[in-house]
Amino acid sequence: MILGIETSCDETAAAVITADGVVRASVVSSQAQLHARYGGVVPEVASRRHLELVVPVVEEALAEAGVTLDDIASVAVTEGPGLIGALLVGLSAAKAIAFARGLPLIPVDHLHGHLAALYLAPDPVEPPFLALLASGGHTLIVEVTDRRGYRVIGGTLDDAAGEAFDKGARLLGLGYPGGAKLERLAAGGDPGAHAFPTGMSGKPGYDLSFSGLKTALRYALAREPDADHADLAASYQAAIVRSLVERTATAVVDTGATTLAVVGGVARNGALREAFADRCRKLGVHLALVAPELCTDNAAMIASAARYTDPIAFPGYLRRDAYATAS
Ligand code: KG4
Ligand code: ZN
Repeated sequence: MILGIETSCDETAAAVITADGVVRASVVSSQAQLHARYGGVVPEVASRRHLELVVPVVEEALAEAGVTLDDIASVAVTEGPGLIGALLVGLSAAKAIAFARGLPLIPVDHLHGHLAALYLAPDPVEPPFLALLASGGHTLIVEVTDRRGYRVIGGTLDDAAGEAFDKGARLLGLGYPGGAKLERLAAGGDPGAHAFPTGMSGKPGYDLSFSGLKTALRYALAREPDADHADLAASYQAAIVRSLVERTATAVVDTGATTLAVVGGVARNGALREAFADRCRKLGVHLALVAPELCTDNAAMIASAARYTDPIAFPGYLRRDAYATAS
């Protein structure tokens, strides 16, 4: 069994999965409330909270899976990208467990982790496929030919799609974290009420841009202070979705991909899931989505990626057997 640990941003997460990708436990402790009053994640506050939570969260994951450290064969941990202080907490915890138990330590790329959510049971996705990875920190279009990695063919030139949701939500006074709140507000609005721009539309390649959209919302609010906020949210969300679907669909057609996967926190969005389902049906392409709780940051995806990542070789002075005779 693999123990996974994820602390790259404001979720302290631990999970236990089997070698063949069955999730035995996935515990996610969100710090969102802690950061809400600052309007975003405060890195040092996040690190300190990870420090308090990481051990209890690991213990909870083990208990929920009904296992002990004796059943764990390797320890997987997010090594980046992310907030450096936050990452350090998960890495230190994972290193300590691996060292104390003489287990392999597997450092995982967080973005590979988001894709590896697709490799978990019960319906693991088989490469080759094209994927849109849309989260709070990244928005990329990637080609996957092998579960060990991915190749970036396009991405945002400025804000990530999740960041666009969060910034839009902040402008609409919804607070942090904003994606899910904006989606709820948009549900009661008219997506055609405001004509917001679709960044990079018609340009060659697969890059995206969301900063102009955020500015357009700011101007719309300044111009029409009494505009219905549900309409604004619905139109804003529709512009993000349109941009993601258009650019990704172009890449699907150009590459001849037969499967498209959409992962990352923004893939929780219902309007996005529906729009992709609709477009993939029209293109005759299979759409692969993971359960909503596996879209946002979690440690099951990190443990999953570890199955396709090499463990690090501990330097001699960190090898447990180097200390075996000392006691
Ligand atoms: O993947 P994730 O948990 O963290 C990063 O790796 O960044 O993604 C978090 C992002 C946030 O920007 C959040 O607002 C967005 O995903 N998000 C959503 C929804 N749920 C989370 N965006 C739109 N609609 C949602 N329902
Ligand atoms: Zn993430």
